[in-house]
Amino acid sequence: MTVAEIQEEILRMKKEQDVCILAHAYQGQEILEVADYTGDSYGLSVQASKSSAKGVIMCGVRFMAETCKILCPDKTVWLANPQAGCPMAEQLDVKGLRELKEQYPGYTVVAYINTTSELKTECDVCVTSSSSVQICSRLENDKILFIPDPNLGHFTAEKLPEKTFAFYNGGCPRHLAASAEDVRKAKEAHPQALLLVHPECAPEVVKEADYAGSTTGIMDYALKSDDLEFIIGTENSIVEHLQFACPEKRFYPLAASLTCMDMKLTTLMDVYHCLKGSGGEEIRLSDEIMEGAGRCIRRMVELGG
Ligand code: 13P
Ligand code: SF4
Repeated sequence: MTVAEIQEEILRMKKEQDVCILAHAYQGQEILEVADYTGDSYGLSVQASKSSAKGVIMCGVRFMAETCKILCPDKTVWLANPQAGCPMAEQLDVKGLRELKEQYPGYTVVAYINTTSELKTECDVCVTSSSSVQICSRLENDKILFIPDPNLGHFTAEKLPEKTFAFYNGGCPRHLAASAEDVRKAKEAHPQALLLVHPECAPEVVKEADYAGSTTGIMDYALKSDDLEFIIGTENSIVEHLQFACPEKRFYPLAASLTCMDMKLTTLMDVYHCLKGSGGEEIRLSDEIMEGAGRCIRRMVELGG
């Protein structure tokens, strides 16, 4: 079968089964084309709870499917490719967090959404890259323990000098792989281009950027800008999606290393097999996790809305 034939069959089956497909913007173009909603982590979380479909297929990584299940307990939620995890989400476990909390008593624990559901049960509120500044600014407590990504943490802290932040030393291995040397080379090769980066990148990369923001923030900026050339400092599929969206503009990857192997695991055939009942994994979480992580995720939606 061709890609177009598989896509047509997916569209037919999802309608017949009342299933909605959510795809993170780091997924391939052929998957975004069959999705009901595409966006960044925050957009996917909000969209999950708005959908009236009985089932949801998440094309992304495990913590996104778990967030979706927690926000939509009555829906059947599948992760299209069960192997797709996020290395950053696995960096800190409950034991490590408890030790960290002992070092910072009286701090509100803010968890980047890229964490396991089990870890979220021990945190106060979640944030995403697009909601972090707003949510932290709305917290009553001025002391914030930000886990696990210190880059997003510092990016947020710089905008809220009135608050005191403590960090865990984790981070996204993909975004961290982009270096100041990559910035120098990319700017030399494309002197007219604006540099747009994700706050998961290292501070020395973010400080050179014309714009830093979430995946959706980067895409919106490039779409609306009158400029014609952009160096993209986030997962490389965004380069391709922007090129499709604006054929008259030019987009260049900041670094070849900005490719997330986990996000790339999900294929169109995974979505097909999930709908056929021969693939994917149905997300099932214990009542304790649904309750504990749910408190943290719902607070994010309340404060970030
Ligand atoms: P956003 O979707 O919040 O931009 O985060 C990027 C990311 O790395 C998701 O895993
Ligand atoms: Fe995790 Fe980074 Fe991949 Fe996002 S890009 S899923 S944060 S490893």
